[in-house]
Amino acid sequence: MEPAGRSTELTKALADAVGAEHVLVEADVRAGYEVDWTGRFRGDALAVVRPGSVEEVAAVVRACAASGAAVVAQGGNTGLVGGGVPRPGGRQVVLSTARLRAVGEVDVAARQLLVGAGVTLAAAQATAHAAGCEVGVDLAARDSATVGGMVATNAGGVHVVRNGPMRARVAGVEAVLADGSVVRRLAGLVKDNAGYDLTGLLVGSEGTLGIVTRVLLALVPAPVERVTVALGVPSLADAVEVVGRLRRALPGLEAAEACFADGLDLVEEALRVAPPVPGRPAVTVVAEVGAWSQAAAGVLLDEVAAALDACPAIGATAVATDRPSRTRLWEARERHTEAVATLGVPHKLDVAVPLGRLAAFEAEVRARVAAVAPRSTTVLWGHVGDGNLHVNVVGPAPDDEAVDAAVLAVAAAHGGTVSAEHGIGVAKVPYLALTRSPEEVAAMRALKSALDPAGLLNPGVLFP
Ligand code: FAD
Ligand code: MLT
Ligand code: ZN
Repeated sequence: MEPAGRSTELTKALADAVGAEHVLVEADVRAGYEVDWTGRFRGDALAVVRPGSVEEVAAVVRACAASGAAVVAQGGNTGLVGGGVPRPGGRQVVLSTARLRAVGEVDVAARQLLVGAGVTLAAAQATAHAAGCEVGVDLAARDSATVGGMVATNAGGVHVVRNGPMRARVAGVEAVLADGSVVRRLAGLVKDNAGYDLTGLLVGSEGTLGIVTRVLLALVPAPVERVTVALGVPSLADAVEVVGRLRRALPGLEAAEACFADGLDLVEEALRVAPPVPGRPAVTVVAEVGAWSQAAAGVLLDEVAAALDACPAIGATAVATDRPSRTRLWEARERHTEAVATLGVPHKLDVAVPLGRLAAFEAEVRARVAAVAPRSTTVLWGHVGDGNLHVNVVGPAPDDEAVDAAVLAVAAAHGGTVSAEHGIGVAKVPYLALTRSPEEVAAMRALKSALDPAGLLNPGVLFP
């Protein structure tokens, strides 16, 4: 039965578009779609609708437009800036991509794979791997995060140092625009300069310019061998230097991550996962190196050992080559997000600064957070190879912005960005102007107005 106050006309139109069984209106069924992964952002949806094809997505968008309801696209709901859940108080429909789950066959010659927007990263990775390829983007939320959500947020993850972010791994998209029309760039052309790059525009648009329905992934070849190392170093400055040296010595460097001692303590206490190296070093770097031929694989371990020997800052070291041992070295790094969530609702500030400023940023941001929120718990970690740190603060109330403002101001003062890889969502809207000029924001607004004049798609995300 439909709850009182819901728009019967709209839910009927949605049911006509996708079938009544795919229009969810009961409060307890909607609940999981209305709150984000962190628990910091929540709202109320008129309905959750689950279209099963691009035509159905277009019909949903048209039905919402006709009734003046906004459309919030949602994939795996692992986003960390509140952009995939409805805002409080608006007339919104959550469009879940859960049924857009078709997985194509790998085109081995072109090294491309066509998938539905609702396909999880793990599913795309499995298909790519079976054909000797990889998606090239990897992150701990792989079992839930969808390819469509990763396109929409231009997700980063642990392999950006080698493969770039999601933007670099997208050969084309299909998407439904706010007027219900469909744009399709799926021919897989490596060269195509006929006009504006619509695919590029949709990558990182966070559901504000179109609903992505299919994605043509640009895969990378899978290495034949991988070595994972965990390295204890005395400081973040040393971590930056070590990673710089590894990058120069090892062209196959795929990942370079950093954790701090207090974060690894928390992971051990909360989740019973031991740190990757003993001795509680101030910073632990987890790095991964690949080899793409048997000849290169034969000398990989020696090359890695020689590169590590040339770094005097490295103390405790662990090296792994087989998959279970490599997974063990990764586990404590990967589970920081989960461990922090056990402490309460985190303020998650995902920033990047130029590499040369990273250590100074770390020192200053710790001091600023201690001054602004003295009773909070602060845990840092991140993608050191990309100059990207995740500053997580637990303690301040979810709607207390003081710590967010302080951290993002420090990032901006160091020439950095308020969002490295998670997006602006609703969480960073007040801070966009810290790293984007008025002219840039005006250009972005002009694009938004041209493609979505009524503000139907994800209002409140990116812009106020
Ligand atoms: P959702 O959370 O559902 O949505 C995210 C945004 O994309 C929203 O604005 C939504 O409206 C929009 N959207 C979703 N699908 C579509 C679509 N089909 N068309 C248009 N817009 C759409 N992120 C990183 O970058 N790097 C990491 O290393 C990383 N690690 C993570 C680890 C954990 C444990 C968790 C919980 C999250 C992590 N994230 C990371 C964040 C998150 O996984 C990514 O942002 C991911 O891209 C979100 O995908 P999703 O399908 O869950 O999207
Ligand atoms: C990570 O690198 O662990 C992710 O971006 C998730 C997070 O910041 O919590
Ligand atoms: Zn990250």
